[in-house]
Amino acid sequence: MTNNLTLGIETSCDETAAAVVADDNTVLSSVVSSQVDLHARYGGVVPEVASRAHVTLVAPVVAQALVEAGVEPKDIDLVAATRGPGLVGSLLVGVSAAKALSLVWDKPFKGVNHLEAHLYSCFLEEPELELPLVVLLVSGGHTILVSMEEHLQYLILGETLDDAVGEAYDKVARYLGLGYPGGPAIDQLAVHGQNSIKFPRPMINEGYDFSFSGLKTSVINYVRQHPEARTEDIAASFQEAAVEVLATKTKRAAIQINAKGVCIGGGVAANSRLREAIFDICLEEDLHPFVPSRAYCTDNAAMVAAIGWRRFRQDGPDPLDLGADPNLRLPCLSLMP
Ligand code: KG4
Ligand code: ZN
Repeated sequence: MTNNLTLGIETSCDETAAAVVADDNTVLSSVVSSQVDLHARYGGVVPEVASRAHVTLVAPVVAQALVEAGVEPKDIDLVAATRGPGLVGSLLVGVSAAKALSLVWDKPFKGVNHLEAHLYSCFLEEPELELPLVVLLVSGGHTILVSMEEHLQYLILGETLDDAVGEAYDKVARYLGLGYPGGPAIDQLAVHGQNSIKFPRPMINEGYDFSFSGLKTSVINYVRQHPEARTEDIAASFQEAAVEVLATKTKRAAIQINAKGVCIGGGVAANSRLREAIFDICLEEDLHPFVPSRAYCTDNAAMVAAIGWRRFRQDGPDPLDLGADPNLRLPCLSLMP
């Protein structure tokens, strides 16, 4: 039997997920039960509905992860769960389940930072990635540009001053009547559109921070003033503006820190245009691009188990009175001036 097995549990938002990972990169199973259909009728995630669904789903999802991995509770060496950031009611379900299993199975428990899990998802498929790296973390709640010179040590180069890029995708999609979640809807529609509308590229030449709220507002204003505009063209033009800002800053950061490569992580890393743009900048600058499979970009528990094991190896287990923290930040060295 393989050693160093971690059961990971992820319930920070609207996916109930469990995975079994050996060491910090060999995925034996990764089960994700999405609640998208439950929330779609409300146009976004309803926290109370999400936590109730996690309560119902967490035990069967964990059971399925164990069965698919072909392991039993006695084989597990660590139980890890996302403890933040995220929706507090949802986080509590995963953390409580993990602590209960840790107690019953007599295995150590580790609380995981969801942002750190996304940052490390690229190592699941490419464990030998060379440092230093620039990692662009783009999700529904965060947009962060990180420099990683040593493992488990991060320097935040920049982050969003207002909306996260995923939030901008979701809000623009909602305004265009494309439903929830908006990111994949805009991604698919943009393929059929023209990048014909010149939307602003906020702060593109200023430092490493981002701002997407102005871009979102200018799309909404444009649609109000041009009701005849094709939705496909609006989607393609909005996406081009957002991706150009992300890729331009990522490229500049990679040059500045002399990075060997560039990684992306988080739900928006599943975006086809962003994935292409990252390959393009890496080709131009002779950098190693790493773009995880889509299943490891959006929320999953394999990334939680993997970083759980890395952190456990370095820092040891967490006490069972460790709680969920909806506002948890990325543990970082210091902010750039
Ligand atoms: O990482 P994630 O699954 O959950 C959070 O931690 O937030 O990210 C969800 C976000 C949503 O805003 C969703 O619209 C966006 O990722 N997203 C995408 C795509 N797939 C998911 N955005 C753009 N293009 C996509 N293909
Ligand atoms: Zn996430």
